This record gives sequence, structure tokens and C-alpha cells, in this order.
Amino acid sequence: MTKKVILTGDRPTGPLHLGHFVGSLQNRVKLQNTGDYEQNILIADMQALTDHFDQPEKIKENITEVAMDYLAVGIDPSKSTICVQSQLPALPELTMYFLNLLTLNQVERNPTVKEEIRQKNFENKIPVGFLIYPVSQAADITAFGADLVPVGADQIPMIEDTNFIVRKFNSTYKTEILKEANAMVPENFSRLVGLDGKAKMSKSLGNAIYLKDDTDTLFKKIKQMYTDPNHLRVEDPGEVQGNVVFTYLDAFDDDKKTVQELKDHYSRGGLGDMKVKKYLYEVMEHKFKDIREKRTEFAKDISQVQQIVKEGTERAQDITNSFMLKIKKSMGLA
Ligand code: TRP
Repeated sequence: MTKKVILTGDRPTGPLHLGHFVGSLQNRVKLQNTGDYEQNILIADMQALTDHFDQPEKIKENITEVAMDYLAVGIDPSKSTICVQSQLPALPELTMYFLNLLTLNQVERNPTVKEEIRQKNFENKIPVGFLIYPVSQAADITAFGADLVPVGADQIPMIEDTNFIVRKFNSTYKTEILKEANAMVPENFSRLVGLDGKAKMSKSLGNAIYLKDDTDTLFKKIKQMYTDPNHLRVEDPGEVQGNVVFTYLDAFDDDKKTVQELKDHYSRGGLGDMKVKKYLYEVMEHKFKDIREKRTEFAKDISQVQQIVKEGTERAQDITNSFMLKIKKSMGLA
């Protein structure tokens, strides 16, 4: 039986944080270890340039950072293909053909892109490359022949655009070469909130804990976490809901009974913030210590990491180049 193909990816705008870990990395390792899938992991540096076009050095640097995060959490290059988007010329080539298949109106309607445009205050200075990144993402997905794209809910419009393009391409060129992809949204998916409790964890909001953070940094960040602002004295009853410390205990502590006891005690009063924070620190230190140590080992041998990425990229070049040739044949161009 041929294995189902997965394509997933990240923009290398910085090292990966615990939001990535909870939202996707963990799931990728699980999918990889089932052995049921051909998993490709794309480091989407070209897509990162669509809103960081003036910082190519930073994006380049972060390719290695992201690769080290992958390896540290357990992505195994003998089981999953790690590759770099800008080294796969079939992707921009396919993007050019796809761009003819949808209208400006359609790309402007993508709700995720709309929201990002609002957040980035582009106003009327939207880079064209940014506006059409969903089309380039459609090329990523189809060039790998992906059946499944594991994503968060915000990426669903990308899959919808992709499948529109697939149908339009196949009907226009009277072919069945492209196949539709399915979004794979993890069950009870929820985004990890940032340290401030205000929004999801994100690099740009400065509320993130990184996989590479050392133990002191981890402790410092936990100390800064938003708790209940009205919990002024230890003996006061505290609010658990929306209290980031408890949100993280729910996310990272497998000992649910202890978590419940701590919640009850906190709600009753008599449990200080610092005590819960120290407990959370122990839990998180235990959970992320091995990952951090593995990452430190990889960081000592960057050339080995770069070699792994190079080999994965070569494999991805083979896949996407040979598929691109078939696509051009189906259009009558080769
Ligand atoms: N848009 C994704 C993100 O912002 C990154 C990405 C690029 C991607 N190409 C992809 C994800 C293809 C899945 C499949 O995180």
C-alpha cells in the first residue's frame, strides 16, 4: 500500500516555542512514528520573506534554529523529510502557473490573509508576494502530492484555496494530475496562550517560552506569568480560570489529580502564586529537559544539522522536480 503523503511547515522567523510544540511538533512526531505516512516538513523561508523581505539574513539563520528544534523534539530525518522551500525551484515555478487560475478578488478574500494584513498595518502598501502567499502554499502542497496537511484552524482557508486551484487546474487542462488535500486539524485543538494570558503564544508579542530556553530563563518566564491579579494575599481565594499557571499545568502536567488538588486549594485560598509557579517549573523542567539537552548537542555541531537539512532538501528536490515535469506535460508545455 502506498503511504499517505503529509506536508507541513513553518516560517523560519525565529526559533520554535511551546505553542509550536503543543500545536504541531508533538503531533508530527506522533504521525512520524506511526510509520503510516510519508511526512515532509517544509521550512518555508520564501513565505517568511513575504513579510520579512528586508531581513534575509535573519530568515537564513533561523532555518538552522528551526531544524535544531525539529531534531530536538524527535523528528527523525530517516523517517521524515526536512527541506528548505527556497531550494526547491519547482515551487515558485508551479506558483506562476497557479497565479493565473484565481482572481485578485479571490486572494483578497482569504480570511487569514485579511486578518494578517490588518495586524501588520500594511494598509494600502501590501506586498504582492504577501497577498499571494496562499497560492505559493498551494504549490507547496500540490508539488509534494500531499494528501494531508496537519494545521491549526487558521490555515484551513489555505487548504480551501489549494483545493479550488486543484479543481480549476484539472478542469482547465483536462487532467487529473493534481489531487485535493485534506486539512488535518488535531482533535480538541487549542492554541497555547502566551505568558501574558492575553493572546496566543507568539514571538512578535514577546510572550513565548522557547524550546531552547535554558532552565534559568524558563524559571524567570514562569515567575512573570499572568495569574489572578486580585489574588493579593496567600489566604485570599484565587481565580483558576484564565490563570496562565493553571492553563500550563493543564497542558503539561500528566498528573491530573495533583493539578485538580492545586486548583481546589487555590480557589479556596491559602495557596500562594509562587508555590504553584515553583511546582509548574518542576513539571516543565522535567518535560523539556531532554529536548533542551538534545538541542544543545545539535547546536555544538551545526554542520551536521545543515547536512541533514541538505539531504532532506535533495530528496524533496527529486520529488518536486519530477512532479513539476509531469505537470508541464499535462499542460502541454513539455
Ligand atoms: N503557512 C504556514 C505557517 O504560517 C507555513 C507553511 C508554508 C505551510 N507552506 C506550508 C504549512 C505548506 C503547511 C503546508 O505556519
